[in-house]
Amino acid sequence: MPARFDVRTESEGAVLLDSLSRPLRDLRLSVTDRCNLRCTYCMPREIFGPDHQFLPKELILSYEEMTVLVKAISGLGLHKLRLTGGEPLLRKDLHRLIQMLRTELGEEMDIAMTTNGILLAKHADELAKAGLNRVTVSLDSLDDEIFRMMSDTKAEVADVLNGIEAAKNAGLGIKVNCVIRKGSNESQILPLVNHFRNTGVCLRFIEYMDVGNSNEWSLEEVVPASEMIDMINREFPIQPLAASHVGQVAKTWEYLDGAGSLGFITSVSQPFCGDCCRARLSVDGHLYTCLFASKGTDLMSPLRQGLSEKELAELTSEIWRKRDDRYSELRGKLGKELEKVEMSYIGG
Ligand code: GTP
Ligand code: 5AD
Ligand code: SF4
Ligand code: SF4
Repeated sequence: MPARFDVRTESEGAVLLDSLSRPLRDLRLSVTDRCNLRCTYCMPREIFGPDHQFLPKELILSYEEMTVLVKAISGLGLHKLRLTGGEPLLRKDLHRLIQMLRTELGEEMDIAMTTNGILLAKHADELAKAGLNRVTVSLDSLDDEIFRMMSDTKAEVADVLNGIEAAKNAGLGIKVNCVIRKGSNESQILPLVNHFRNTGVCLRFIEYMDVGNSNEWSLEEVVPASEMIDMINREFPIQPLAASHVGQVAKTWEYLDGAGSLGFITSVSQPFCGDCCRARLSVDGHLYTCLFASKGTDLMSPLRQGLSEKELAELTSEIWRKRDDRYSELRGKLGKELEKVEMSYIGG
């Protein structure tokens, strides 16, 4: 059957572009919609309580299915694959998936994982051995009381720090993501900076975003990156670095005293949709072209109906060509707010 769409890759001379001329370089694969924390800004317990219906088993992609879908999409120009959740380490034997992906995607593919770190100490070694390159660990506070309040958990900061240590010992690259929510954890900015300077860990502060429909987001609770930068610069002088690649999410800065670099994710104060090259695949096999999308395209059904890798790639390229998402740039100008997917379902 002749290809309905041109799916030539960069190496073949043509790049797949969306309607705003953005390539598809980065795929985020959610491997579960469950999490062992209940961060108030992501999965508030009032909504994600004991009665919450998570996806049933039959609607969840197996590792084999994930590998077929990712392999199909990878041919469209992917450079990076990030496993996300919910919390990816809740999925049994995750290293098995990583091993399958590494075998199919080859050594060149950058494979990363976003985790809350609670179970990382237990699994870091097997993940690294299976072919994971790096982890991004979420940590909003070094103070146990604030940490427990924000993540609505009995877990301790030490559990996460032990996970980071284990990841370091396993040879994984490490970044730390910290969401700053005004009135909750601004007090943690300087302690976190002080803790991670000189450690080789890149700390990134994320502006609190209006993802999902559950967190009752308000602009008043956002601390703009410019304020965080001023606060840090007064104690630990820093200067901006040039972006290292197209589509970079975080703006990176470095300490003037050589203590390493840190980053700021400014989705609210300075949106970065212009070169957004990210697609997201949910654990029930739907492809989303924006973190703030209300709908994805079902790839699980075509996969289960037996479409070939090439046909799945064609389907994906058809979706990508039509893509015109730029939610963060349009925030507040869209009139009536749309229903959005939850971050715990689509991943960060
Ligand atoms: P690297 O691969 O290390 O460059 O990581 P990254 O910055 O691409 O990914 P990471 O998952 O660490 O992103 C950090 C956080 O930025 C996410 O958890 C989200 O909160 C936010 N983020 C990532 N991608 C997007 C995006 O496309 N749009 C918006 N608005 N926020 C994003
Ligand atoms: N705003 C900003 N970041 C968020 N994250 C989850 N919800 C939000 C939000 N509303 C972050 C997590 C984690 C990553 C997956 O996304 O803290 O670092
Ligand atoms: Fe918190 Fe991440 Fe779990 Fe959401 S998915 S509740 S941000 S740990
Ligand atoms: Fe990309 Fe959508 Fe985020 Fe803009 S809002 S950077 S288009 S995911």
